[in-house]
This record gives sequence, C-alpha cells and structure tokens, in this order.
Amino acid sequence: MFKVAVFSSKKYDEVFLSQSNQSGQLQLDFFASHLDQQTVELVQGYQAVCVFVNDVVDHHVLRQLHKFGVKVVALRCAGFNNLDLKTAHSLGIQVCRVPEYSPQAVAEHTIGLLLTLSRKYHKAYLRVRENNFSLDGLMGFNLYGKTAGIIGVGKIGSATIKILLGFGCKVLCYDPSPNPEAKQLDIKFVPLNELFANADIISLHCPLNHGTKHIINRSAIELMKPGVTIINTSRGGVIDSKAIIEGLKSQKIGFLGLDVYELESELFFEDLSDAIIQDDVFTRLLTFPNVFITGHQGFFTEEALITIGQTTIENLEQLLNGKPCENVIESAR
Ligand code: NAI
Repeated sequence: MFKVAVFSSKKYDEVFLSQSNQSGQLQLDFFASHLDQQTVELVQGYQAVCVFVNDVVDHHVLRQLHKFGVKVVALRCAGFNNLDLKTAHSLGIQVCRVPEYSPQAVAEHTIGLLLTLSRKYHKAYLRVRENNFSLDGLMGFNLYGKTAGIIGVGKIGSATIKILLGFGCKVLCYDPSPNPEAKQLDIKFVPLNELFANADIISLHCPLNHGTKHIINRSAIELMKPGVTIINTSRGGVIDSKAIIEGLKSQKIGFLGLDVYELESELFFEDLSDAIIQDDVFTRLLTFPNVFITGHQGFFTEEALITIGQTTIENLEQLLNGKPCENVIESAR
C-alpha cells in the first residue's frame, strides 16, 4: 500500500477522495494545514503528497520531499503556479494535476459574478430581507450587445464564451495559443491592447505564469473603456491589486468581480470571521460598493468534486505503480 499525505484538506476533500479510493492501493492521510517549509516534516514515510491551490511547493519544499523519498506530487486542481516544476523534474519527482474537471463550473461562476454586478443582486438580496423594495441605486446594465474581452481561450475561457454568446455579447479574445475548438466559435482574436480598448467586460481565464503576472496593471487599465467591468476567476496574481484599487477610485473601472486574490493563501478557505484581517489591500477592495468577491469557489460544484476525486486517485495509482499517466505535467506552458 502507498502512503499519501493530503494537505489543505477540508471535510469535502476527505469525502470525495475517499469515495474514489476503493482499490485498496492507497492509504490517504488528511492534514488540514498547508504544505510549506514548516509542515513538510509531516511527510516522512510517505511516497506521495496531494496538494491544492495554496500549498507552497517551492524548491525548498521539493528538496525536503525528495529527501523523504516522495516520488509523486498530485495536484487536485488545474493550475500549477504554486509548484516549481523545474526543480521537481530535476529531482525526479513526478507531478500530475486534474487538467479538466468541470470548465463549466468555473464558467458558470464567472457569469454569476458578472450578473451579480450587472444587476446588483448582492444589494437586492439584503434590501428585500429588510422589506426595502425601493429600486433606487439598483439600476443595472444589459449584457446583450456588450463587447466581452476574454483573456485565455482554453477550456474555461471557451465555456465562458459560449454562455456570453448566448446572452448576445460580441466576443473579442486574446490567447497566444488558443484551444483549437475555439476557432469554430463566433469570436474574433485581437491583440491584447485592442481587447483592452474595446471591451465593456473583461474576463480572465489564463494561467498565472511569467507572461500573465499583472497582465492587468496600471498601463492596461489606462487603455480600457471608462466604466469597464473586470472579472477574474483565474489566479489572483494576474491582476495588480494596487493598480486596480487606483482604477476603482478614479472610477475608470466600473465593476470588479473576483473569485481569486493575489494574497489569498492568507485568507481564503478559512473561517476568519473573528479575526482581524491584516491585509489592507484586500480590506480596501471590500469597501467598494461595485466590487463583489467570492473566496475561490469557482470550482466548487458536486460534479467537479466527483471528477477531482476520481482523477486524483487514478493519477496517484498510475504514477505510484510506474504506469503512464496522461495528466503528468511535462512542461510549464
Ligand atoms: P487551459 O489550459 O485550458 O487554458 C488556459 C489558456 O490560457 C490556454 O489556451 C493558454 O494558451 C492561455 N494563455 C497562456 N498564456 C496566456 C497569455 N499570456 N495570455 C492569454 N492567454 C494565455 O486552462 P483552463 O482549464 O481553462 O483554466 C484556466 C485557469 O483557470 C487555470 O490556469 C487556473 O488558474 C484557473 N482556474 C480557476 C478555478 C477557480 O476555482 N476559480 C478552477 C480551475 C481553474
């Protein structure tokens, strides 16, 4: 039996991973803490670790994992910006992920953020609960006829585009190497600056890497239409949070919907309702009436969790048994 240390584990991880772990080949031990330089000591005696979006799998952690004889790092997510792939490969540690579990889950959440902002559902919900049926301040805008700019036309970007086309949006896209299926859609690929200049709504669906870090920065915001709506369900680091606050204060940015945040690892997935939040940038973002934030829940549907559980267990069993696995990450694209 192979021993697997599962980090950043929540009740639902335990349920969905255990449900798929039926072959008796893996012993899963669940740890609530993130994997990082402090907690890596827990991994002694394990052959694999299973990690999520905010675990830190940098070169220090990987060297320690290698010393303990860990052979496999299984990400139970799609993005892998939190892992030093080069070091993993140099140490002979195999890395796998769940490249596709439900692009629709994230796409539908993206549209949820957009509709919340465009029709002010977050305010309406609170008002009606207090018997306040006044419409003052709730005027929204139609999605029909608007131009949406999609950055990153992979699986989630394509699923989002299909929904937006259904609303009657025009869609402009930017992606240096788009999903071939996207070419069949009624969309137009344009240079990034053209997208910034013409989109009423900008939605981010690219991975976080050297090319996309702070792709939304001060100079990008300068190019945008006044009142632009920005939605980010990809990774927090694609947006320069300080620049976005300036854009909100100057009212260049009309609406902002976030499911991810640059420094979310200190905040998201935990109940901090009794804590004093130390991150002044995040708390400033929360003060704007035209900003709506969810805590990285885009992936969080029953269908997605079933697939994440099944694929993660399959990946671990294949790699630990020395078999080929199609979800191994070969290069950081
Ligand atoms: P994907 O790999 O299918 O698509 C990503 C696309 O981004 C590719 O077509 C790629 O060519 C493109 N891209 C790469 N560099 C780019 C650049 N510089 N500019 C524009 N486009 C660029 O990935 P998928 O499944 O669509 O996921 C996208 C991202 O969404 C993930 O990397 C992850 O960070 C995030 N995500 C967020 C979730 C959430 O719960 N909020 C859940 C799952 C993924």
